[in-house]
Amino acid sequence: MGDHRAIGVIDSGVGGLTVVKELQKLLPQEDIIYFGDNANVPYGNRSEEEIADLTKAMIDYLIEKDVKLIAVACNTISTIVDKYFSDYEIPIVSIIAPTANYVVKNKLNEVGVIATNFTIQTGAYDKLIKDKDISVEVTSEGSPNLATLVDSADFTDDEVRQLVSLHMKNILSKKDLKDIILGCTHYPIVVDKFQEFGPGINFINPAYEQVLYIDKLLDKMDGKIIDGNSSFTVYTSGKRDAYLKMVDLLALDKPDNIMELGLELQQ
Ligand code: DGL
Repeated sequence: MGDHRAIGVIDSGVGGLTVVKELQKLLPQEDIIYFGDNANVPYGNRSEEEIADLTKAMIDYLIEKDVKLIAVACNTISTIVDKYFSDYEIPIVSIIAPTANYVVKNKLNEVGVIATNFTIQTGAYDKLIKDKDISVEVTSEGSPNLATLVDSADFTDDEVRQLVSLHMKNILSKKDLKDIILGCTHYPIVVDKFQEFGPGINFINPAYEQVLYIDKLLDKMDGKIIDGNSSFTVYTSGKRDAYLKMVDLLALDKPDNIMELGLELQQ
């Protein structure tokens, strides 16, 4: 049977494509409708109210498109979804909760989190991990600039290296860590740079944990599609060029359409 409606994916920009990558691997038959609010990136330096308003617009847009669930492919937004969107009927899936489960399931005694300033200031990772196991030690580091740089899709290796090296030095000076959560969906796009400054460290990609969770949720909803062709549509408040570059960089299946809102462009 299954539910032939698409899976909706939202992020402030191109970061959520790291979730699309895992969706295309684990659930290749599913249609995907992606919304990236690149015109308003970075969410991580905004107020809670601003983030809630911008997120509401994206969620309502995707509900209009009749998606079957919404994957919040953004850690910053995930910190506020329970507070603002718990009365929505459609399942809205956080990226943080499944990652907190991973930490506890794998019995990590200590873990690092590098994320946007907003995500770190909410203490969301700390809280969700400690709710399950109070003994886990969480070491945090906020970045005001890395997501914006990656979202520009116009960065040099050295520009990324400079920021990543700063944040890796900071977090490792607080604690000698073996496991670090890349707690912003833009960061796994440049995971090779994190690996340069943390060889031997296990960098946890929350996108993978979120998609495992979605897989199980679809089973429960009897909503999984197991055959037929899938489609991938992108809506952005920014520029389609950034998506073309990122799709290449992440080796994603190509979108059927990338639409700049207002002017629907065919690829
Ligand atoms: N990709 C988003 C996240 O996972 C945030 C980027 C931003 O600050 O807009 O937190």
